[in-house]
Amino acid sequence: MAFDHPHTSALPDTQSIKMPRPKQPRPILVIGAGGIVRAAHLPAYAMAGFPVIGIMDENAERATSLATERGIPNAFSTIAEAVRFAPDDVIFDVAVPASQLVHILPQLKDGTAVLMQKPMGETLAEAAAIREICRNKGLTASVNFSLRYSPNNLAVQALADAGMIGAIHDVEVQTSTFTPWHLWTFLATAPRLEILYHSIHYFDLIRSWLGNPRSVSAKTVKSPHAAGLAATKTVAILDYGDAMRVFVATNHSHEFGEAHQHSFVQFEGLHGAARMTMGVNLDYPTGRPDTVEYARRGAGEASWTSVPIQGNNFPDGFMGPMGALQAYVEGSAASLPTHFEDAYETMALVEALYRSSDNGAAYVSFKDDI
Ligand SMILES: NC(=O)c1ccc[n+]([C@@H]2O[C@H](COP(=O)([O-])OP(=O)(O)OC[C@H]3O[C@@H](n4cnc5c(N)ncnc54)[C@H](O)[C@@H]3O)[C@@H](O)[C@H]2O)c1
Repeated sequence: MAFDHPHTSALPDTQSIKMPRPKQPRPILVIGAGGIVRAAHLPAYAMAGFPVIGIMDENAERATSLATERGIPNAFSTIAEAVRFAPDDVIFDVAVPASQLVHILPQLKDGTAVLMQKPMGETLAEAAAIREICRNKGLTASVNFSLRYSPNNLAVQALADAGMIGAIHDVEVQTSTFTPWHLWTFLATAPRLEILYHSIHYFDLIRSWLGNPRSVSAKTVKSPHAAGLAATKTVAILDYGDAMRVFVATNHSHEFGEAHQHSFVQFEGLHGAARMTMGVNLDYPTGRPDTVEYARRGAGEASWTSVPIQGNNFPDGFMGPMGALQAYVEGSAASLPTHFEDAYETMALVEALYRSSDNGAAYVSFKDDI
């Protein structure tokens, strides 16, 4: 059987892929001194040479101790103090529970640049309210969809750009792991959990590759091992037409040892396939190294090869959303991929998935009544 191969078989250089960054980094003021700021935001900004001039948390002691630990010169316990202190060219970096965004954003000065952590609110109605605030205040606002800038995803993009994957017709995302939900106390009462706080990264990533689906079908369910929480296990199908299979399947209570735990995104195209693994999900938040593998179509068992990548989602990927926002603000980048207007569409997708899970099931007729 003849296979349609790309013209080249040499892997592109995936180790010197450049993250977006500004020519002249601007000062960053962080709102929220929680787990993700400690594990990823601050290490990424240190790596990129982005200056952090202050940190605010409503828990004053948390802001002060993280500032001391990481050599950040100023700590605040109210937004008002932080806004008063901020220079005109500040970039606010907001990493708090999503429910807080509608309270924090109105307190920023009109025209401010701000990166907010995902999700953009807890519902589509909240996302619409956040979009309204951003529009009315003229904020240059972006959402931290860090997986788009994870070095493994950038490497898969380089493979695709080199023609090594070809037209993509199959995308599967599978995560089966044990996630320590207790680390996020605010999730104990969150009405929506898995799709909104975790798989949203996968749905946003799929949108970045394939655009918006025509429709979705999903079921998200509770786990007996996290019975007090909202649904933490999901299966979802995204409809991109009759010649494309796209699905996401996640189980966060697979506590049966490492043997069958996994977390990956796999792309299959006419010429080749790529699989990126997400190590952070396998030992959160310490993580294991991310990986990428590539196979040429039809090359047989020996064809999967490891693709070198430079760094991991945590923390390296976090240089991307901040670098992209800063480059856009200074005018050296023409577009902002995770702009709030685009992020709103990811929120619309999330909302549709919950709607489908609640009432989108098709009736199965087991009797002769059709
Ligand atoms: N991009 C990613 O991969 C990623 C990973 C983890 C978390 N996140 C997102 O980051 C956000 C924070 O997550 P986390 O893991 O740091 O949670 P966390 O619970 O460890 O920290 C949240 C912090 O926000 C502070 N806070 C709450 N309300 C506030 C307010 N109104 N003003 C100021 N501070 C406030 C809390 O005191 C706490 O210190 C969440 O929205 C989460 O979805 C993103």
